[in-house]
Amino acid sequence: NGGVHDAKNLRVKLVLLGDSGVGKSCIVLRFVRGQFDPTSKVTVGASFLSQTIALQDSTTVKFEIWDTAGQERYAALAPLYYRGAAVAVVVYDITSPESFTKAQYWVKELQKHGSPDIVMALVGNKADLQEKREVLVQDGIDYAEKNGMFFIETSAKTADNINQLFEKFVASLS
Ligand code: GTP
Ligand code: MG
Repeated sequence: NGGVHDAKNLRVKLVLLGDSGVGKSCIVLRFVRGQFDPTSKVTVGASFLSQTIALQDSTTVKFEIWDTAGQERYAALAPLYYRGAAVAVVVYDITSPESFTKAQYWVKELQKHGSPDIVMALVGNKADLQEKREVLVQDGIDYAEKNGMFFIETSAKTADNINQLFEKFVASLS
């Protein structure tokens, strides 16, 4: 199997959640445009971007990405974006334990109110800042494992593991 006749065009609604400043918008910008913005502005409400990737058998996967605002004042809007999402990416900053705590809040919220078959990933971003690390890799791994999530550490700045993050979801599609 896997021949060209099996090619499909898949669409995946993906939402990013996490504390303000963890790098959600930078992860999306890196994935969609291959760029990094050191002066990235806080997101207001949410922003939408899409990116299509082609697989070897010429199947395409279109990610419809909702990049939510992490500031507390927008928290009530989040359900508008995670409702119906097939994939949720919960992001924290490896230099910020507070952002790791906030990530756990979002995971619980998704477990309560997200789609029952939602695929979730826990992402420790800013992995380039190793000397400022305050969240152990193992703590991320353990939390993700307990909650049935993918886990990956990324850097939107260096591009490390950004494509790998999105590729993880492709395998979970059918
Ligand atoms: P909200 O929109 O308020 O929810 O924040 P956000 O999560 O979208 O954060 P954003 O992507 O705007 O990034 C916040 C800051 O972190 C910016 O100054 C970025 O340049 C910086 N940043 C983002 N990703 C990385 C990274 O991987 N490494 C480093 N060193 N800085 C990063
Ligand atoms: Mg943002």
